[in-house]
Amino acid sequence: MIDKLIKETRSFRSFKKVRIEKKELEEIIEIARYSGSARNGQCLRYVLISNEEVCDQIFPHTKWAGSINWNPTKDESPVAYILMLNEKKVGTSDNFFNFDMGIASQNIMLKLRDMKFGGCLLGSYNKPAVKELLEISDDYDLGILIAIGKPNETVEIIDTSSDTKYFRSNNIHYVPKLKKEDLIIKNI
Ligand SMILES: Cc1cc2nc3c(=O)[nH]c(=O)nc-3n(C[C@H](O)[C@H](O)[C@H](O)COP(=O)(O)O)c2cc1C
Repeated sequence: MIDKLIKETRSFRSFKKVRIEKKELEEIIEIARYSGSARNGQCLRYVLISNEEVCDQIFPHTKWAGSINWNPTKDESPVAYILMLNEKKVGTSDNFFNFDMGIASQNIMLKLRDMKFGGCLLGSYNKPAVKELLEISDDYDLGILIAIGKPNETVEIIDTSSDTKYFRSNNIHYVPKLKKEDLIIKNI
């Protein structure tokens, strides 16, 4: 059950024009709040964006699939975003903010998939532009931007022993993953 959900939780970059409700985005944060955090400090904060106009304004500031020459068109662009923030006054170090964000962002990706949506974690986006657009105060650091929608593409995992560069062929996005034999250094 959990294995199937993890396998199906891929990075999706092409979406159908099916909207997601504000309350569905809130449902996602309701479960994300159960994520672990360093010292239980809970420095993460979220901006939920489902407004079509705002999504259209964010899209030009996003960067996709840096390893290949492919970008989603506006027609297949995300219908929502979750922006992850660090509330600075909590005092969590950058290192642990990144750790907390990793845990919570994967939980968000799993929850999205369970709701038959899909997402893509975006580390590459124009942070100053998005900060200004969403009027985020200096009390917060901007973290990962999660793009959201109903997947409109097939993503397939393939085994590899060396080359981890993902690629697209006949509109299928292939993601090579190292085999467990290559990952386990020792099993004593
Ligand atoms: C920290 C982090 C930042 C990422 N930033 C981007 C990004 O800016 N743009 C993008 O298209 N994908 C981004 N990705 C998605 C990765 O490219 C993706 O996880 C990888 O290709 C493996 O595919 P999979 O998630 O389906 O296993 C990011 C993933 C992580 C974990």
